[in-house]
Amino acid sequence: MADSLYDIADRALEAIAGGLDRLHRDAEGVAETLSRLGEQARPREVPPLPREDAACRHLSAGLASARRVDSGLAEALAALAPLLHWQRIPEHVPHPPDPFMDDYAFAKIFGPQGVYPGEDFMMGLFIIGPQQFYPTHLHQAPELYWLFSGPTEWRFGEGEPWEEKPPGALHWHAPYHPHAMRTGDVPFFALWAWTRDIHGDYRIVGAADSAPLHRS
Ligand SMILES: [Fe+2]
Repeated sequence: MADSLYDIADRALEAIAGGLDRLHRDAEGVAETLSRLGEQARPREVPPLPREDAACRHLSAGLASARRVDSGLAEALAALAPLLHWQRIPEHVPHPPDPFMDDYAFAKIFGPQGVYPGEDFMMGLFIIGPQQFYPTHLHQAPELYWLFSGPTEWRFGEGEPWEEKPPGALHWHAPYHPHAMRTGDVPFFALWAWTRDIHGDYRIVGAADSAPLHRS
């Protein structure tokens, strides 16, 4: 019998938890993320409807990069990704440049339309195409990013310098800590989690028109 979605998701979650513990155990936010992940119920009740989004065309490049970060995890994610409900939320970026919306998508493993419902907890995958800019935003929910591709550039406040982050880097955004991201020649592909207060404030605080990172 073929593996169920739940078996495939559980293998991916095991690989995620194992990779975070092995590669980033002492990094800020990892203990909190692993603890919240371990607390989550996994009812095998309402599977998400698989949904592909335009930005999924970048998945193969993202997964290829992820293989260099953690090959076992990348294999588990490659099996799971096509079964997820990939979506976009226009409110994330008001008045976005048209190309952004067709170049950005996320899918939840925990959370609404996720494999599991999540209890004030969301975890999933996030993809953004090359030469894109995600404006400065902040939210009440603490957030973990584990970057599988790159480099990407990040800025933690309007007017702050851009910082280059390589594939494999980890970020923890404390509540209300502003952050923006821009991609260069390669797509952004990452694990993302909101560990609590998922229904709290979310605000864009920066202009949506900052130039993406152009590499020659
Ligand atoms: Fe964020």
